[in-house]
Amino acid sequence: MTTAQAHPNIALVKYWGKQERVGNLPATPNLSITLAGLTTTTHITDAAKDAFVLNDAPADDPKLNRWLETLRGSFDIPPLEIHSSNDFPTSAGLASSASGFAALITAINAFCELGLDQAMCSQWARRGSASAARSIYGGFVALVPPQWWAVPMAKKDHWALEVVVAVTSTEAKDVGSGEGMERSRLTSAFYNAWLRDAAADFTAASDAISSKDFAALSAVAELSCLKMHSVMLTSQPTLSYWTPASIACMDRVRSLRALGHDVFFTVDAGPQVKAVCLSASADAVVSALSDVPGVIKIIRSPLGDGARVIE
Ligand code: DP6
Repeated sequence: MTTAQAHPNIALVKYWGKQERVGNLPATPNLSITLAGLTTTTHITDAAKDAFVLNDAPADDPKLNRWLETLRGSFDIPPLEIHSSNDFPTSAGLASSASGFAALITAINAFCELGLDQAMCSQWARRGSASAARSIYGGFVALVPPQWWAVPMAKKDHWALEVVVAVTSTEAKDVGSGEGMERSRLTSAFYNAWLRDAAADFTAASDAISSKDFAALSAVAELSCLKMHSVMLTSQPTLSYWTPASIACMDRVRSLRALGHDVFFTVDAGPQVKAVCLSASADAVVSALSDVPGVIKIIRSPLGDGARVIE
């Protein structure tokens, strides 16, 4: 048996939209931070036929089946029993597919002795879920052309950011990211503007991370998030992932900033609000978001490491 672990990541410059060619390639460069406070653990053993168990229940995941078939097109892989569990809500905008595919390729690579380096693991994780490419690495991570495997930008101790996740719903989302972003590409009038500005946002965020300029990173990360949600909302049918509590949390983050705290928000394809802050403001952020009506749980996380084999 081999066991691997990986953490979700949250994008500060978002990926929303794919290129029209094979390989699950994002249309725009994107970057993220990896979170230590949420973990996916995946065990792999030999089996008579493939079996997938997610959070202790047998599961049939067509995306996983297609991915395994593609992987078997390149490598000789026996039938496998895969047990994967998340210590956080699955499919609710907390990037479980990112940590899931990153842990899975890391475990299969070790168990089947595929000999993949981190770049190749990242490329295979991307084929499962493009955000998963980034969870191969810890700290600050970019997913950029031309290769479209993730590259580490800075280690987690470059800048001790903390993330406070305000969970406002634990229900699985109605429309998954892949289907949602395809709908946006085909129907949102804002989609081309989103593509046009992404490289500039990516450069601004990379510069802000290099120089540890929190105000600059706040501005570009919130804007990238809100532009992505504008594209989602103007898709037809609309993609509306927020709850009233999500909006209240974003307002609360703005109020904290007006009081002088170093904090900004980001939200993915789900209702949870992730507040990114400097350590000095983390207690105030936890306490302010805990008080927002509709917040059912707070998860606090420092930055974490990349995917790894643990046994
Ligand atoms: C909103 O990586 O889940 O979290 O490649 O189709 O599996 P697929 O999509 P996925 O999309 C993530 C979208 C996002 C933004 C981001 O993480 O960059």
